[in-house]
Amino acid sequence: MMDMKVQPGIMDIAPYVGGESDIDGAEEIIKLSSNEGALGPSPEASETYAALQGELHRYPDGECTALRHAIGEVHGVDPAGVVCGSGSDELISLLCQSYAGPGDEVVYSQHGFLMYPISAKAVGATPVAAPETDLTANVDALLAAVTDKTRILFLANPNNPTGTYLPADEVIRLRDGLRNDVLLVIDAAYAEYVERADYTSGIELVETHDNVVMTRTFSKIYGLGGIRLGWAYCSESVVGVLHRVRGPFNVNGAAQAAGTAAVRDAAFTEKVRAHNAKWLPWTRDQLMNLGLFATDSVGNFVLVCFNGLADKNAEAADAFLKQNGIIVRHMAGYGLPECLRITIGSESEMMAVVNTLARFLGRNTA
Ligand SMILES: Cc1ncc(COP(=O)(O)O)c(C=O)c1O
Repeated sequence: MMDMKVQPGIMDIAPYVGGESDIDGAEEIIKLSSNEGALGPSPEASETYAALQGELHRYPDGECTALRHAIGEVHGVDPAGVVCGSGSDELISLLCQSYAGPGDEVVYSQHGFLMYPISAKAVGATPVAAPETDLTANVDALLAAVTDKTRILFLANPNNPTGTYLPADEVIRLRDGLRNDVLLVIDAAYAEYVERADYTSGIELVETHDNVVMTRTFSKIYGLGGIRLGWAYCSESVVGVLHRVRGPFNVNGAAQAAGTAAVRDAAFTEKVRAHNAKWLPWTRDQLMNLGLFATDSVGNFVLVCFNGLADKNAEAADAFLKQNGIIVRHMAGYGLPECLRITIGSESEMMAVVNTLARFLGRNTA
């Protein structure tokens, strides 16, 4: 019998389920379920991490000074506006904790990243999903979902799992349509992969508006998901708030050192970007040639949908891929039961996933 009272909202949370890593009985698997970097971490980040083993007794720098300056130099941002976190997940929850509570609403896009409704509920706020158009965030719908109770609006740009994005003029229109007391959080976890001229990660909006925050992660292009590292770029007032609520040593020393090396390893970052620029369109084209629909993703993954293929649905495709040692992500939890999200992996992994889906569909690849 439990006597303790749990805070409102918490028991309504459907716990986040991460991408699977194992298949029973399979020794060799291809894991394309969590959008981890196709080429792993930068060798310089790995070496820096390994060199820290004699320092494990030391508390880290609570201010993440070296890391914030490296981020500032590489991304062209003011280090004073950067707050680091144990993954951008931590920053998303700290923002909810700081700006929303019971009775408040947190708006996000229909197929937006699941940590937004989870973090909103965790602080007793009500998540409100705005409908999308063609699996893409819709500015008018997002603005229409804002009420007097709205405190935060999350926009993943590009979005996970759809891979679609809003161009800069639409993001500006969204910000201009918001009251100044609503915080716009632009989650740019996949920004480094985007190759479109009309895209903005939101840096200039942060620099010109107190109520805009941009979040970034080291888990994707930098391939450092295992060490949990993310950062937020914020106005002075938001920086002051986040520094009050974060733990004093919220980013561990190994993450800070490896992250600093990774962000400075421009050659490796460029290699990962070029790999994605080749294999993302290749994979999408191959899937479309198989008669499937794939979104025009600009991230390091594709969303592929099986609508209208009577006996060949996403669930059966997922099972067939697993039987063949390939783990992707079935998107039922995102309200997309007919879709799978497939991370862009290595060349051989992409060949394997396309060939296996072709066999599932009884077709030949080109
Ligand atoms: C859109 C989006 N935001 C945030 C995150 C969380 O990243 P992190 O590993 O930095 O917590 C993810 C991870 O998949 C994501 O897809």
